[in-house]
Amino acid sequence: MRDRERAAPASPRLPPAWAVPPVLAVRNALGRLHRNAMPPIVAVFETTFGFVEAKALYLAAELSFADFLAEGPLDADALSRAAETDADATARLLRLLQGLGYFTQGRDGRWKNTPMSELLRADRADSVREWVRFLCGPWHGEIWNHAVHAIRTGRSASVEAFGAEYFDWLSANTDAQTTFDAAMEQSSQLSGPSLVAGYDFSGVRRVCDVGGGTGGLLATVLAANPSAIGVLFDLVEVIGRAAPVLLAAGVQNRVELVGGSFFDAVPAGCDLYLLKAIMHDWADPECVTILSRIRAASSSARVLVVDQLMPAHRGPHPAKDSDLMMLVLSGSGRERTEAEFAALVARAGYRVNRVMGMPATAVLELVAG
Ligand SMILES: C[S@@+](CC[C@H](N)C(=O)[O-])C[C@H]1O[C@@H](n2cnc3c(N)ncnc32)[C@H](O)[C@@H]1O
Repeated sequence: MRDRERAAPASPRLPPAWAVPPVLAVRNALGRLHRNAMPPIVAVFETTFGFVEAKALYLAAELSFADFLAEGPLDADALSRAAETDADATARLLRLLQGLGYFTQGRDGRWKNTPMSELLRADRADSVREWVRFLCGPWHGEIWNHAVHAIRTGRSASVEAFGAEYFDWLSANTDAQTTFDAAMEQSSQLSGPSLVAGYDFSGVRRVCDVGGGTGGLLATVLAANPSAIGVLFDLVEVIGRAAPVLLAAGVQNRVELVGGSFFDAVPAGCDLYLLKAIMHDWADPECVTILSRIRAASSSARVLVVDQLMPAHRGPHPAKDSDLMMLVLSGSGRERTEAEFAALVARAGYRVNRVMGMPATAVLELVAG
């Protein structure tokens, strides 16, 4: 992996949460129109080529094309010399990606970045390069090679692929773990800025991010709330890599790093506990245990669950993709409807006080009930 310069967490421009459902409804209607405008066999072939498109995006991210083009436009020969790739193969990859909105070729034949390919640059604060390298890369793909097992049995494909549960395998594979941590940090751009803009943190003195990874979300929360202090809680090897993220956000002096398992105990004495992309990793009994550990640590604290909410409609939705991914990766993970969340948290003595729609995820505020 190329070294990337640490930049402070970014605030991507996202639409307001209220605008998302109608915009998604229109997009889904256009998508239906697009599909129905061609014979079913063509639609099926197009779906299969989605795999090629995701791989093409991975190749551009892995080979750092966007970083080389950040210096200025290049023709395919010059780019291939910089990237140490074959010139013809490079041109063909760029031609495909241009059609998807990544990279654009000028009249002089030289290629430059588009707003979408800019996000593949390693040095940008709003980069999603590591997310692409994680989701579309080889070891994640290897787990999907065994996905039939997940559907046949309802159990993790990671065990079939690697002989170990997903997080256990990650812990033992430093490169994959580092990519995963960075991918999670980059994905926090979709929820962190909306969370601090939409949730009232006044009165929160000490906030704990449970399973907070390398601290991307906590950094955003603390940067926006200068009087608050934070606790970053995750597995020991993960919090060991958090320092650069916290430093870049200028919040390192306000964060206590605590390593451990949320199945054993979580740090006590906080007013607010964050659980972002945690509940969706686990089956109901494990989620109840995690919530019970939080309740035992601080019975009056609020809990913010940041996850996708499974919608009732039949159209495409990122929660449905994420749900299948959770099944394949961990076997036990799933995305939940609001009603499923309400029933689940009640088993740990909580109730859903309110649900806040965010542009890309939802936030459920839990209080002891
Ligand atoms: C999907 S990631 C989410 C990370 C972070 N909350 C975010 O959204 O960016 C799940 C996190 O749970 C952590 N995790 C897994 N098992 C854990 C355990 N038993 N105790 C504490 N953290 C754990 C992983 O290390 C990882 O950082």
